[in-house]
Amino acid sequence: MTDFYAAIPKAELHLHIEGTLEPEMMVALAARNKVAIPFASVEEVRAAYRFTNLQTFLDIYYAGADVLRTEEDFHDLAAAYFDRAAADGVVHAEIFFDPQTHTHRGIPFDIVARGLFAAVEGAKAKHGMTVELIMSYLRHLDEDDAFATLRQAEPWLDRFIGVGLDSSEVGHPPSKFARVFAASRERGLKLCAHAGEEGPPAYIHEALDILKVDRIDHGNRALEDPALVARLAREAMTLTVCPLSNVALRNVDTLAAHPIDRMLDLGLRATVHSDDPAYFGGYIARNFRELAAARDLSREQVVMLARNSFLGAFLSDEALAGHLTRLDTFVQAGAKAD
Ligand code: HPA
Ligand code: ZN
Repeated sequence: MTDFYAAIPKAELHLHIEGTLEPEMMVALAARNKVAIPFASVEEVRAAYRFTNLQTFLDIYYAGADVLRTEEDFHDLAAAYFDRAAADGVVHAEIFFDPQTHTHRGIPFDIVARGLFAAVEGAKAKHGMTVELIMSYLRHLDEDDAFATLRQAEPWLDRFIGVGLDSSEVGHPPSKFARVFAASRERGLKLCAHAGEEGPPAYIHEALDILKVDRIDHGNRALEDPALVARLAREAMTLTVCPLSNVALRNVDTLAAHPIDRMLDLGLRATVHSDDPAYFGGYIARNFRELAAARDLSREQVVMLARNSFLGAFLSDEALAGHLTRLDTFVQAGAKAD
């Protein structure tokens, strides 16, 4: 559906490529690679997607990723995502991948990286979009494991824009990864961390003060701490909010209760993204569309969310200016049509 929400130019800044594994592809790759999965059909896979919190999701998400074995698999996964993203108005994407999910199953880092980069090149040529990759450390593992991952990534580092921090949040505060984030920063990488999704506002403070992140993923729980909200607003820190994920993982009761407009009203640089769309019911345009309907967002608020996605991206000044001009042109053309 190419409506306003799909057409408006936007950047995807919070997407886990493993979270784009649609049930159809999971079943097809299981057959292609002769991997046993505990589901007999696409319908059974879908029926299993009922989550009560982050961990119940992660258990299924990591199990599903087991069908990804070859360079071709990683290519096909990412290529399918870029096709969907382009149809959803994504002109720039900065996507996460979780190397440890694969290296811990015996899939070499290079297989993952080669497959993903082949798809990135394909997306640039086919869709004219720009794409960056962010390597995410799994926070339920220890910091030495993250350092091992950084070492495996060494030959590829100039091709990654940054590092992230994801997986089970509570009990794994950002401070656990202080040294590996410092080492990552020294190598010229941008820094992101999931914080305040399920974890307390203190984890957002740690991500800022100890990890010195450039961007916070989720960040919803900042709303419990007015001083933190004021600081995030003052520092123009981007919060990559994922509405359908928030509802699926029960961090927000319903989309109608989502605090996105409160975040904007408080001066936060909130953006809207899709997190793990194959699991949470929709890609980025659907997140925009359903959120806008549920919260009765104005066109100006939706444009602000799209604008924030470019402001929060790791773009050069020149590329940023180009995207903002393109967004303004889109908005003006729409205003004339009204
Ligand atoms: N939170 C934490 N870790 C994740 C997520 C998420 O929403 N998706 C994939 N890994
Ligand atoms: Zn996420």
